[in-house]
Amino acid sequence: MTILETRGLTYSYPDGNVALRDINIKIDKGKKIAFVGQNGSGKSTLFMLLNGTMKPGKGEVLFHDVPFKYNSKSLREIRKSVGIVFQNSDDQLFAPTVYQDVAFGPANLDYPKEKLETCVNRALEQVGLTNFKDRPPHHLSGGQKKRVAIAGVMAMEPEVIILDEPLSNLDPVGADEIMDLLNEFNHYGSTIIISTHDVDLAYRWSDYVYLMSDSELIGEGAPEVLFRQTELLKLAGLRPPSSLEVYHELERRGLAKGYLSPKTLPELVNALRPPELMWVDAPHGVKEGDTLNLGILYGEYSPNSPYEAINARVLHIHPGGKAIVELKRRSIKAGGILLYDTDSYSYPEVLNIIEEGDVTFVGAMGKKSKILAEEDGIFLDVTSGVIDRSILTALCGKRCLILTGGGMVEHAFKRIREYVELSGIELNVGTFNTGEEFPWLEVLEESAEGFRV
Ligand SMILES: Nc1ncnc2c1ncn2[C@@H]1O[C@H](COP(=O)(O)OP(=O)(O)O)[C@@H](O)[C@H]1O
Ligand SMILES: [Mg+2]
Repeated sequence: MTILETRGLTYSYPDGNVALRDINIKIDKGKKIAFVGQNGSGKSTLFMLLNGTMKPGKGEVLFHDVPFKYNSKSLREIRKSVGIVFQNSDDQLFAPTVYQDVAFGPANLDYPKEKLETCVNRALEQVGLTNFKDRPPHHLSGGQKKRVAIAGVMAMEPEVIILDEPLSNLDPVGADEIMDLLNEFNHYGSTIIISTHDVDLAYRWSDYVYLMSDSELIGEGAPEVLFRQTELLKLAGLRPPSSLEVYHELERRGLAKGYLSPKTLPELVNALRPPELMWVDAPHGVKEGDTLNLGILYGEYSPNSPYEAINARVLHIHPGGKAIVELKRRSIKAGGILLYDTDSYSYPEVLNIIEEGDVTFVGAMGKKSKILAEEDGIFLDVTSGVIDRSILTALCGKRCLILTGGGMVEHAFKRIREYVELSGIELNVGTFNTGEEFPWLEVLEESAEGFRV
């Protein structure tokens, strides 16, 4: 369903500078959209037209198929439904306290007092700034200011959130936190639109990408498709995403295959083609045709490694005792990932899982789960990119625990399952405490055995 659309949108600044030329876009509800382009390509101008802050010279903007009218009543409606977070938080924040800043938008919409308080407190909780509500915004860090600005928009419960260069000037941790927040909002149904010149970010994050250059839209499509068009990217003054560049170099040398467009680190790792034949010291008593377990943890090659890592079939035993083995990728067994639903959370239980379950890597997804862990002093090895980092860790034979709540458990389970199916590498996956039955849980339940505590 199209939620936001432009037709023949053209805009010139009063000094005659043409900032947008004939822009036609259709934004689907619930999607993650990135506008990618160099500085000056027209992204910010477009965003201000998308929420009615500026009026087009030619063409129109439509919300749910209804063209914007530029009278004060419909502009209020639009600004409530299409929230915008500016590139520079200092342009957006001006109230004496964080609470007042977040309350500014909904107060202008004449929310009754009670609803106002509920919305503001919820938004502050969503961005994890409840404890900061009496602080002056200009004393906060860049990442915290950005979160205040986002809360100000979220408090109005918009259908679409537009963020102009949301990561500019943020450090890596602050940037990860913002992207996690956006993913969480998107997970619960918001349509998210960002602008960026960071192709890596747009490539891995978005469902759909618009490519802008010199006031015009010069390309659009799914990121896997659009970012393969190197000539088009060059035209826009951009480079291909680095994971694609690395992959293509490896592929050209015959070292990787199977993925047209690896996006994440686990996908890239999975595309690597391991040498299929290998010389090993044949343990005593091994015959041709036997299967050997090559333990990756201790580097020993024994017929019965306790750490089943890679199975290999013995093709030939040399008189000197060396053997040629063929690695069987399908039977790689790695560590495991356990998902814990924090919607019903118990600290002793989590502690027990970590200790008794021999868990060496703990991650949390979602603000609520991170706060729970923080309050109880559970050390988190990872708080962003949690699923991918856990997969990579599990591939090294370790056991991971992911704390997460709401529908995110199912989301994580699906992602891990997709990886298992695609790669043929068997990860042990289990859920704990979810109450819900997933149709595919049974399939993996068996492999989760032994990991349950
Ligand atoms: N207030 C302004 N007055 C005149 N020209 C402007 C103004 N703001 C932006 N422009 C021009 O409009 C074009 C698009 O700018 P902008 O939308 O800011 O691009 P981006 O956000 O992609 O960097 C550029 O040529 C820029 O110089
Ligand atoms: Mg801009």
